[in-house]
Amino acid sequence: MKFSSSALGALGASFLLASGTSAIDLTVTDPASIKSATKAIAANLRSYYTGDRLGDTPGNLPDPYYWWEAGAMFNAFIDYWYYTGDDEYNAITTQAMQHQIGDYNAFMPPNQTKTLGNDDQAFWGMAAMAAAENNFPNPTDPTQPSWLSLAQAVFNTQVVRWDTLTCGGGLRWQIFSFNNGYDYKNTISNGCFFNIASRLHKYTGNQTYGDWAEKMWDWELSVGLMNEQYHYFDGTDDTKNCTSVNHIQWTYNAAVHMAGAAAMWNATGSDVWKTRLTTLINSTDVFFNLDGSPNIMFEVACESNGKCDVDQRSFKAYLARFMGWTIKVAPFTSTMLLPKMTTSAAAAAKQCNGGANQTSCGLKWTQNGVNDGSFGVGEQMAALEIMQILLYDQVAGPVSMATGGTSKSDPSAGTETQNPPITFNSITTGDKAGAGFVTTLVLIGIIGGAWWMVS
Ligand SMILES: *[C@@H]1O[C@H](CO)[C@@H](O)[C@H](O)[C@H]1NC(C)=O
Ligand SMILES: *[C@@H]1O[C@H](CO)[C@@H](O)[C@H](O)[C@H]1NC(C)=O
Ligand SMILES: *[C@@H]1O[C@H](CO)[C@@H](O)[C@H](O)[C@H]1NC(C)=O
Ligand SMILES: *[C@@H]1O[C@H](CO)[C@@H](O)[C@H](O)[C@H]1NC(C)=O
Ligand SMILES: *[C@@H]1O[C@H](CO)[C@@H](O)[C@H](O)[C@H]1NC(C)=O
Ligand SMILES: *[C@@H]1O[C@H](CO)[C@@H](O)[C@H](O)[C@H]1NC(C)=O
Repeated sequence: MKFSSSALGALGASFLLASGTSAIDLTVTDPASIKSATKAIAANLRSYYTGDRLGDTPGNLPDPYYWWEAGAMFNAFIDYWYYTGDDEYNAITTQAMQHQIGDYNAFMPPNQTKTLGNDDQAFWGMAAMAAAENNFPNPTDPTQPSWLSLAQAVFNTQVVRWDTLTCGGGLRWQIFSFNNGYDYKNTISNGCFFNIASRLHKYTGNQTYGDWAEKMWDWELSVGLMNEQYHYFDGTDDTKNCTSVNHIQWTYNAAVHMAGAAAMWNATGSDVWKTRLTTLINSTDVFFNLDGSPNIMFEVACESNGKCDVDQRSFKAYLARFMGWTIKVAPFTSTMLLPKMTTSAAAAAKQCNGGANQTSCGLKWTQNGVNDGSFGVGEQMAALEIMQILLYDQVAGPVSMATGGTSKSDPSAGTETQNPPITFNSITTGDKAGAGFVTTLVLIGIIGGAWWMVS
């Protein structure tokens, strides 16, 4: 390619404008610009990961990141490859996913099971589901489980945890009774199950998954984890038979339900699901209406007051991810989603100018390009996701068994070996502290009633 002198002039000018303001130059309508911006953001995200180093554990992020967030990060890399075609991170992703499979071939590795929540397991399960839907390269070792079967195993291990002793059903947050949070039926655990069931239904056409998705949706509505406008609340206390709800709203709860509802609409074509999805998307306005920043995503419960913890700083990544998923699977949503996607992506990119390489993204996208200096896996992943989904019209959309999906189905995955006891390895103090902290937060929310912000 040759540069004309006028092109050189334009380049020089844009370089001058860019230097000192933003190292990430994003034109939201230009695929080449989106690819080069996301390439830099992804490289920065990858720099946090050490699990592929000799002597380290594939799939783990160093402190302070919990195991579930690593699963979420590999999902982001799977989607990065799908949207951009850049396979730079495929090898570390495959290695990590396979190393963390654990018991039941269902993402229950012994190092984690002692503190494992249904939501933790599900974030890895959703990564496997994304690998199947994107036709991510299948394992070359034929003894390794397929991506699809890993998602099916997560479904199968969770469906037997459906608990009718209290609240008329639902999943508990924690899997094991000795953990803090066993008495809490939280929305993200139930919502992730809904997400996986709906996507398995769309992918395989198997009605059993669809029936469970319907059942979960109805149950969440019945106990008030969502209201009639499909606002999603944090969770509910099972010692009170789920009569008291913690009303904090998080982006990731709306996110997992959005994709699930889109999958159900796609699979059924029903007007009921169309209305649910439309209403749900409309209700995400609560995350896009900060004064003076219309259509720019923010974490309403903790961003303005600076109280977002490490986990919470990643939540916007999942709302972005599933907006991109939804626009492919339920294209009628594009008029609602596109303004939010493009405005948020432009705002995120504008402040990704921190750190030595000027590619570190802060938490707040609503400050007109001012980087707030909050760096980490969550902040970086959220910016990556909101930018890469802009390539939605460059990709075919998630495949299914009927439309070219190559990942092998195993409907009984995760059920064959229920006899051997689950193995627990010793856990680190970091894990214990983390679980305890979340529970404290949750109890504050319940006592206070309808809390809007984390305090
Ligand atoms: C910054 O750039 C260097 C050299 O390209 C690279 O090795 C490093 O991983 C980058 N760091 C971040 C945080 O992107
Ligand atoms: C469990 O922890 C040990 C010790 O840190 C490590 O060697 C091993 O690879 C880990 N296994 C998994 C599946 O993470
Ligand atoms: C607990 O809640 C469920 C579902 O809302 C209800 O069917 C059941 O009767 C309640 N049990 C008690 C003891 O109140
Ligand atoms: C969208 O939300 C607004 C409140 O933010 C509400 O007034 C309106 O009725 C909702 N529209 C739909 C279609 O749900
Ligand atoms: C269902 O989703 C697929 C992508 O997974 C998309 O190609 C197809 O157009 C969607 N169906 C409808 C009716 O929109
Ligand atoms: C559908 O899924 C259910 C639940 O996992 C399973 O028991 C059944 O065998 C599946 N049916 C087919 C035809 O794959």
